[in-house]
Amino acid sequence: MNKKIAVIGAGNVGATCAMYLAEENLADVVMVDILEGMPQGKGLDLSQAGPVRGYNAKIYGTNKYSDIKGSDIVIMTAGLPRKPGMSREDLLNMNASIVAVAAKNIKKYAPKCFVIVVSNPLDLMTFQMRKITGFPKNRVLGQAGVLDSTRFRTFISMELDVAMTDIQAMVLGGHGDTMVPLPRYTTVAGIPVGELIPAKRLKEIAHRTAVGGGEIVKLLKTGSAYYAPAAATVDMCRSILCDEKKIMPCSAYLTGQYGIKDIYIGVPVVLGSKGVEKILELKLSAGEKKALQKSAATYKVHLKDIK
Ligand code: LAC
Repeated sequence: MNKKIAVIGAGNVGATCAMYLAEENLADVVMVDILEGMPQGKGLDLSQAGPVRGYNAKIYGTNKYSDIKGSDIVIMTAGLPRKPGMSREDLLNMNASIVAVAAKNIKKYAPKCFVIVVSNPLDLMTFQMRKITGFPKNRVLGQAGVLDSTRFRTFISMELDVAMTDIQAMVLGGHGDTMVPLPRYTTVAGIPVGELIPAKRLKEIAHRTAVGGGEIVKLLKTGSAYYAPAAATVDMCRSILCDEKKIMPCSAYLTGQYGIKDIYIGVPVVLGSKGVEKILELKLSAGEKKALQKSAATYKVHLKDIK
């Protein structure tokens, strides 16, 4: 039997996740959305691309949460996206209630699944998802670090005019302007990036990464990015479903690592068939650690704002 992935929210991120999942023949996909007809229409459209694109995955849309039954992974994408000038935190209470409804239904219909949260503000919505499902912490995680690192990788490749896929990067912290790109843990075909790009320029690239989501919101005007967020999410799904045990920066629940606890924040984890199998503690410099703790402290404050 094929694996099954449910995508909550059939907007741009959700539908693009469904497309990439199908193209990789990773799983059958059900998209759930409250809008009548829209998820069904996108499901049919994506199915009809299968014969040409060469996939056999079943893809369909629904308005019923009960259709997520039997899902191995649920991807949570529903929620309002940012408009120009908004921070992800401005979405807090609207999206917290959307996540709460989804969490109750996930708990009811797919009690054994893994949940990958993509809705913003990411780290806080992941916290909310875990709180309401009551799932163990290895089964609820947030997508962000993979997206933020892929942005960093892309900008470095543009700078050096080398293959993007040769670049490995690590971006930690919350998925917001306080994120912490780590040039010290970033390499180009194994070469530390600091040997190829001067420190001052690297700082500028790291800054562009930190505000990279906002750059796209500003350009699109009506919503936020979706191709790269969906690609990052599907990479995480593959590592879990195929037990790849890839090391990826993800939003994970910390219990004292990096001197931080009781919060979701981006850290490197091993992702395998048990979900978050391990949290890696990198040897951070004092400055890096301070930046990560500062990022976590910001989210601790926002957590209290969830009504
Ligand atoms: C971004 C949004 C989706 O970073 O959080 O593009």
